[in-house]
Amino acid sequence: MSPSLFESPQEAIARLRDELNRHNYNYYVLNSPEIGDREFDELMKELEALEKEHPELDDPYSPTHRVGSDLGAKGFEQVNHIHPMLSLANTYSISDVDDFMRRVREGLGGETFTTVGEMKYDGTSISLIYEHGRLVRAVTRGDGIHGDVVTDNVKTIKSIPLVLSGSGWPDEFEIRGEIVLPWKAFEKLNAERAFNEEPLFANPRNAASGTLKTQNSAEVARRGLDAYFYYLLGENLPYDNHYDNMMAARSWGFKVSDIMTCLHSIEEVDNFINHWDVARKELPVATDGLVFKVNSLRQQLNLGFTAKSPRWAIAYKFPAERALTRLRYVSFEVGRMGIITPVSNLEPVLLSGTIVKRASLHNEDIIRQLDIHEHDMLYVEKGGEIIPKITGVDKAQREAGAKAVEFVTECPACGTELERVEGEAAWFCPNKYGCPPQIAGRVEHFVGRRMMNIDGIGEETAVQLYETGLVRDIGDIYDLTKEKLMALDRFAEKSAERIMKGIEDSKSVPFERVVYALSIPYVGETVARKLARSVGDIDALMNASQEELEAIDDIGPRIAESIRGYFANPVNQSNIARLKTAGVQMAIVKDDSIERTDRLAGKTIVISGTFTHHSRDEYKALIEQHGGKNSGSISKKTDLVFAGENMGPAKLEKAQALGIPIINEDEFLKMIEAL
Ligand code: IVH
Repeated sequence: MSPSLFESPQEAIARLRDELNRHNYNYYVLNSPEIGDREFDELMKELEALEKEHPELDDPYSPTHRVGSDLGAKGFEQVNHIHPMLSLANTYSISDVDDFMRRVREGLGGETFTTVGEMKYDGTSISLIYEHGRLVRAVTRGDGIHGDVVTDNVKTIKSIPLVLSGSGWPDEFEIRGEIVLPWKAFEKLNAERAFNEEPLFANPRNAASGTLKTQNSAEVARRGLDAYFYYLLGENLPYDNHYDNMMAARSWGFKVSDIMTCLHSIEEVDNFINHWDVARKELPVATDGLVFKVNSLRQQLNLGFTAKSPRWAIAYKFPAERALTRLRYVSFEVGRMGIITPVSNLEPVLLSGTIVKRASLHNEDIIRQLDIHEHDMLYVEKGGEIIPKITGVDKAQREAGAKAVEFVTECPACGTELERVEGEAAWFCPNKYGCPPQIAGRVEHFVGRRMMNIDGIGEETAVQLYETGLVRDIGDIYDLTKEKLMALDRFAEKSAERIMKGIEDSKSVPFERVVYALSIPYVGETVARKLARSVGDIDALMNASQEELEAIDDIGPRIAESIRGYFANPVNQSNIARLKTAGVQMAIVKDDSIERTDRLAGKTIVISGTFTHHSRDEYKALIEQHGGKNSGSISKKTDLVFAGENMGPAKLEKAQALGIPIINEDEFLKMIEAL
């Protein structure tokens, strides 16, 4: 429908919200959009413009609010679940499910019953509370009794209705489901993380729960979570059975899987299992089993609960996919920090759709525990993990006289005798400055995107630069020239120029990233940032004593020792001198335009609500500029609550209960003397 001349702004806004909600539903729940992205964006822009013109008509439930904002708060508020979130009893075989069916029948005194078969989605469970057709709260499972309030993040999930459509919903109800990260979004996220040298998520479940706990809801929105719903709770549900209630929920806008089926006999249940055991592999999201539930709510009530789970439902877990293949040999690989990782090289075998040729054995203890012998037949599993894992040995097939796999005693790359850190499982090569893969690995890390960001040098080039002798350590990078690079194999003028530009640009990378780029053992990105900010420049860092280092937040004796050891080494000292000469930033650049005071020194402040004079982020920055500390959750340690408009009632109550002073915007500005 196009806007009519006679439509009031209020009517136009209501119409646009309805239309956009419907299109979101078509797109995200039904997977069948009626309009294209562009048309959708135009409607959204129209609504945004109208809402901007008429702020009095703004509504936090408007589809324009789904984009996500930077919450910035650390930690989430916790609430008690209205009904505890129990788990399900697990079974691993069809006969166990058949037993469950028989137990239910007995429990019901021989009554017949219908079973609902559903997919068990492998994500993270969520409880949503709706009041008067609106989403008011989203809570994670937590410990089953209380969970974290993650409403803002959940609101970014486009397939979750903020306002219900249709009719017949109870005034107050709870709906539970699983938040999932579809395979495609999961792969994309991990590819990005690999590119940024961030740790990968082992499976979509971890990725979904990690994302849900992210502090930045714009980031949550970007990652593409989805949600399937499977349980409706409340006083006045429309039907007396689970299946019809779920179909009603679907008509209100929830994504309820069409796999959900009513089954009427053990035979139908068994067929359902056999079908989905295979067919689930084609689904766009990860699943780890099936769930069977007694359909009638009356019968559910009669069967009741054990302390941990309902007697009216059971989960059937799919067997982890496993293959048996022969070990060709174990290779030993040397990482950037000198750690030796044993890797099993296998006869290629097909597992969950991919061919597996290698699987890490992690460390010597694992080789011993599994008792791996040369050419053994090994079990490889994927289960919920993406990375294949060796889980056992078929000893019956062991070759006569096969020797146990021995861990190497010398570095496979440079021949140096390996050492083991007391109390740790890993062996390492101590020849830090002469072992080629360690040096190439450090160069590769140094040029990485989150470090010096020198475009054009990847793993292969780092090895090539090492082997040709051009870059034998990080200091050598700044002696490279276009001519030297062009003399190498595979280098054309363009690629040489790209690297030279990257090298030039890297000279303005902030000092904290330089510290991270140095590959100081135990100094990751966060520690590097803390170090750089507290010491200020490289000389102070190089000369810091053990005590001075340990006085820095989060730096313990082990990290401090490692930093001292690093800077005591003449090779590192010389590299640093060369970086300095090259003009790399070796000190924090202070922004002198910002006024800094200690008016809020020692105060932990929780900021909440919306403000008039500055944004929440600006206020957070002001708190830090004046020596205060931001915190996201109210506790005994909070000194002040800085409250704007619409501060959540739970936070307000908590602050009052703990007797923490609450100040408003004007009072805050007075405190920092900005008024
Ligand atoms: S019903 C009281 N149905 O599995 C029963 N759970 O082990 C409530 N899950 O915490 C759960 N798919 O996170 C139910 N179709 C489904 C499910 C499902 C996945 C998860 C859920 C729950 C866990 C139980």
